[in-house]
Amino acid sequence: MKGKGLSHKLENDLIIRAAMGERTSMVPVWFMRQAGRSLPEYRAVRKRGSILDTIQDPQLSAEITLQPVRRYGVDAAILYSDIIVPAFAVGFGIEVVEGRGPVIKDPFRSKDDLTRLRNLEPETDTPYVIETIKILVEELNIPLIGFAGAPFTVASYLIEGGPSRTYVKTKSLMRLNPALWHQLMDRLTSLAIASLESQITAGAAMFQLFDSWVGILSPSEYREMVAPHSNAVFHRLAHLDVPSIHFGVGTASLLEQMANSGCTVVGVDDRTGLDDAYRITKGKVALQGNLDPVNILIGAEAALSESEKVLSSSAISPGYIFNLGHGIFPESDPEVIKTVVDLVHEKGASIREGTPKP
Ligand code: CP3
Repeated sequence: MKGKGLSHKLENDLIIRAAMGERTSMVPVWFMRQAGRSLPEYRAVRKRGSILDTIQDPQLSAEITLQPVRRYGVDAAILYSDIIVPAFAVGFGIEVVEGRGPVIKDPFRSKDDLTRLRNLEPETDTPYVIETIKILVEELNIPLIGFAGAPFTVASYLIEGGPSRTYVKTKSLMRLNPALWHQLMDRLTSLAIASLESQITAGAAMFQLFDSWVGILSPSEYREMVAPHSNAVFHRLAHLDVPSIHFGVGTASLLEQMANSGCTVVGVDDRTGLDDAYRITKGKVALQGNLDPVNILIGAEAALSESEKVLSSSAISPGYIFNLGHGIFPESDPEVIKTVVDLVHEKGASIREGTPKP
């Protein structure tokens, strides 16, 4: 069965083909965090309150999703939403604080807290997500990327109570009470699967699983404590037959396992060369990445010359999607981002062929 998202006629399916391992004649590009605070038109339409209020207005969320598509001419839209939406929607008790991120007043501590993570019923718990996607697939002639937080990264917020630099509480719970850890991961795996299934059924043509903070774990701990859960997300959604991207930061030592998860694309951060990533993943998956988003802040010259290096180092991998190594910084100049998109479209394929145009 074809994914529902693909049944919509797409004028531009470059990213889908690249994600399936094809060496495309133009290199597809999108950016993590392309929708949001770096755009003046976002700040203009953004309501007061947190992102969790804004996303409950489907017309507005669709508009915010479309803003970077119009401005940059990227090859995919990413749904304006957040990784903590499913846990928020089942009533775990989460806020998003501006400039800080997700904050939990009463973090996950014990077995009793599992009852705060009931199953997600997307039709009734997150109807606004489904509605936003339905609006978008009518409007878009490029694929819409749905997404979810991977169980580990969502667990880290629930346990730490907010963003962390050390993940002491997360690692402590994992090591002191592995049985409870796995129960928590099972709950979060179910939430991610239910959310992604509803997004794909509504029309998302592919999805990204964000395991942003998993790079703090060793390969053996990842294998035992994380991989069975993240892999279940990809396996349980395989029947929907849409491409999937598995992304994390600082994952050099985890890339092989991440590539064996059942995903079709691995998202590589800027600390690993794409050529090395290809060797590590043995060509089993397409690659996405990995311009350091700081190069966008430095200015057009650095952004363009570093983008050329990224494109060169991607040459070995047939399937390839240009992106950043992590999300756009809010202070980024949209003009610089636009010049990077144009470079990737105009010269990306020839740079990858080793014959850059003058
Ligand atoms: O453009 C896109 O990428 C789509 C939208 C999107 C958001 N969050 C919007 C958002 C996506 C894909 C996310 C994913 C997300 N959320 C991740 C994984 C991606 C990554 O960066 O690794 C993580 C770790 C989160 C958790 C989270 N939510 C953080 C760290 C923040 C930022 C806090 C801040 O204000 O600096 C949020 C809030 C958030 N999510 C904002 C946006 C646009 C900013 C709040 C706002 O504008 O009101």
